[in-house]
Amino acid sequence: MEIKTDVLVIGSGIAGLFAAIKISEFADVVLITKKEKNESNTNYAQGGIASVIDPADTFEKHIKDTLIAGAGLCNEKMVEILVKEGPERIKDLMELGAQFTKKNGKLDLAKEGGHSMSRIVHAKDLTGREVERALINQVNENKNIKIFEDTIAIDLITEHNVQRLKNLPLNNRNCWGAYALNCHSNEILKISSKATVLATGGLGQVYTHTTNPKIATGDGYAMAYRAGAKIGNMEFIQFHPTAFYSSNQNNNSQAFLISEAVRGFGGILRTIDGNEFMSKYDSRKELAPRDIVARAIDNELKKRGEDFVYLDITHKNKNSIIDHFPNIYQHCLDQGIDISKEYIPVVPAAHYSCGGVVVDEFARTSLKGLYACGEVSMTGVHGANRLASNSLLEAVVFSQRAAIDIKNYLNNYRTSIPEIPNWDDSGTLTYDERILITHSSREVKQIMWDYVGIVRSNLRLERAANRIHNIYSETEELYKRTKIFEEILELRNITACAHMIIKSAQMRKESRGLNYTLDYPNPSPTNEFGDSILQNVNP
Ligand code: FAD
Ligand code: SIN
Repeated sequence: MEIKTDVLVIGSGIAGLFAAIKISEFADVVLITKKEKNESNTNYAQGGIASVIDPADTFEKHIKDTLIAGAGLCNEKMVEILVKEGPERIKDLMELGAQFTKKNGKLDLAKEGGHSMSRIVHAKDLTGREVERALINQVNENKNIKIFEDTIAIDLITEHNVQRLKNLPLNNRNCWGAYALNCHSNEILKISSKATVLATGGLGQVYTHTTNPKIATGDGYAMAYRAGAKIGNMEFIQFHPTAFYSSNQNNNSQAFLISEAVRGFGGILRTIDGNEFMSKYDSRKELAPRDIVARAIDNELKKRGEDFVYLDITHKNKNSIIDHFPNIYQHCLDQGIDISKEYIPVVPAAHYSCGGVVVDEFARTSLKGLYACGEVSMTGVHGANRLASNSLLEAVVFSQRAAIDIKNYLNNYRTSIPEIPNWDDSGTLTYDERILITHSSREVKQIMWDYVGIVRSNLRLERAANRIHNIYSETEELYKRTKIFEEILELRNITACAHMIIKSAQMRKESRGLNYTLDYPNPSPTNEFGDSILQNVNP
């Protein structure tokens, strides 16, 4: 089936929904999403959205906090845009129906690690769910947005799909939409568009232990890489310090997050014998940036041979705990822990990708007509380590900017989209072979967890690179002779992401922010490595 539209949006998290709403004011939008509409990283966001709201706070302070967390690698111009446009975008979200927690008629502002002020706008500890609810309500009512659920983008359409245009130089390529799989009919859709917004979210599922849901298989990074777009800073994977530890947690399932806001509320990290340890690592203790807290926990676990540490909030008033964190309180209670009386067992888990598809200040990628917003993009605002609650903010600020630029782009669109070939749908796969995909997928995640995690080294990276290379070749071989289905697409994508993360980590011969390696334990004093950029020159 062929679908034609002005703008294709891929993904229905905060970035995709917000972009679609803004673009629908001047163009027709087709929005495709992998599962049901609300399934996204956004839906699980707890802490909130950072923004300068308190009169005692200033843009300068938020900028400074963001730059400090980013460990010398943030793009300062982009950080300034992020921070200064933040308050307007929070207002937009409220006008679109998001109801944030208020105290005495004003937004209740929480505090999180790395922030010098209380500036986190939130909806109790279910901020993401509230934002998704509000935006989906808007999209459902909007006649200019057509949504296709259970529809997975397979690959972007560029010159490389059109035989006669295959050899055009990379620096002048266009994106004309995407091929996508309808998971109910197994039909491949050819969706052609003048502009395409990639808003496919993160890649936590590249790792065995992650706070991300199953959809987060890095599809956007992999599709953009295959299409020849520039990808940057993929080594900076953020491990959230405090995911709930459960001894019977399945590999590959989503770990429940214990929000950073719990530490902002006074939570204390303790080893199993009850001793506080963060003061040994940083004067900011529990409220140091995430890379420092996650590494401190990792160090304590390795030194002591233990599986988890504790987060202690028992010194706080029970009603106040329940009022601030009803979702976390209930989840822990369901697991047999009353957090007002007992410590919470926690471990770090893969949480967020600071790198992604390289974009400019209007979310434009290196392919004409392709925009990237939200976690899949690399705007440069996070540098080597994202400041807590700056992700949802980045998504709205740069989705808005993408919409502004797309309006201009469509107004000046003079060329026509060439004839796009239909998807070659031949191929088979026996049930015996399906199990190979499950095995390979498990293997990729374990390799990444064991060798490309919080602490890295040349030897570990080389070992990971060799193993991923083999899995990559086997997967490509299988992919070529297979009818497309969800699991093989996801395996192909997590493997491509693993390759990019390892390659970027190997390029960075220093420890900076989230990239800590035993072989180069300090940051380069001259910052000579800059951003690590990858581009597939043979798409
Ligand atoms: P997502 O919300 O992940 O949406 C991506 C969408 O793309 C989904 O709809 C998905 O189904 C779809 N998709 C993916 N691949 C395809 C494909 N191939 N075809 C079609 N559709 C596809 N950040 C903060 O700033 N504050 C917080 O408090 C916070 N808390 C968090 C808590 C948790 C547990 C997690 C996991 C993350 C948290 N983050 C937080 C990070 C933040 O939630 C995400 O970075 C942000 O929501 C990403 O938004 P997005 O729109 O880019 O992607
Ligand atoms: C959290 O609530 O701890 C998550 C915040 C974030 O990822 O920014």
